[in-house]
Amino acid sequence: MSDYFKDKAENWDKDTTKKTTPLSIAEAIKKKFDLNKDMSIMDFGVGTGLLGFEIAKEVKKVFGVDMSPSMLRKLREKNTPELSIEALEQDIVKEPLNDIFDGIISSMTLHHVEDLEAFFHSIYKNLSEDGFIAIADLEKEDGSFHSDNTGVYHFGFIEETLCKIVKKCGFKDVTFENIATINKPQRDFGVFLLSAKR
Ligand SMILES: C[S@@+](CC[C@H](N)C(=O)[O-])C[C@H]1O[C@@H](n2cnc3c(N)ncnc32)[C@H](O)[C@@H]1O
Repeated sequence: MSDYFKDKAENWDKDTTKKTTPLSIAEAIKKKFDLNKDMSIMDFGVGTGLLGFEIAKEVKKVFGVDMSPSMLRKLREKNTPELSIEALEQDIVKEPLNDIFDGIISSMTLHHVEDLEAFFHSIYKNLSEDGFIAIADLEKEDGSFHSDNTGVYHFGFIEETLCKIVKKCGFKDVTFENIATINKPQRDFGVFLLSAKR
């Protein structure tokens, strides 16, 4: 399996935009859901843990799933006895997990998932009875966000289309809100948070 993030991992955390967006996402998640120290959370596409570590401060445990060994190597370097994420190297689109979580969070990873319906069906099964999802990604864009669109299946998302898929997969209380803007020289890009309950 190719590691698209091999060359990006080393300098990922040095990019200010890459760092600040997950912080805004973490704030929005904390505002939306009452996180507590009994919760077990999965961060899908955890990367170097920019979102995951913020959420790890509030819950019992964060399991960070990622198929990129390079990104997970950077994440493990950041683990300390006081604050850590359990890294799981797996492509959960191809090989779903069997574990159950109280919540599934994600930052800027959904655009790498080709079959959205299959994905939301799959993660629905990973949630506890009253579990939640909080998934952030780009609002509809023109394909100019990434300098290389290898592995990018969606140029952002349209609220109506995405919410329809999520509802079809059984989720309730589905909401979609703009929570941040990423400023790039070519234009601004909106970032949404999609939230829902099982
Ligand atoms: C754009 S990065 C975002 C990383 C991190 N969430 C952040 O906001 O900094 C997307 C991450 O998702 C991972 N990823 C993409 N598709 C995946 C899949 N099917 N299973 C596991 N990880 C995946 C990539 O390896 C990459 O680390």
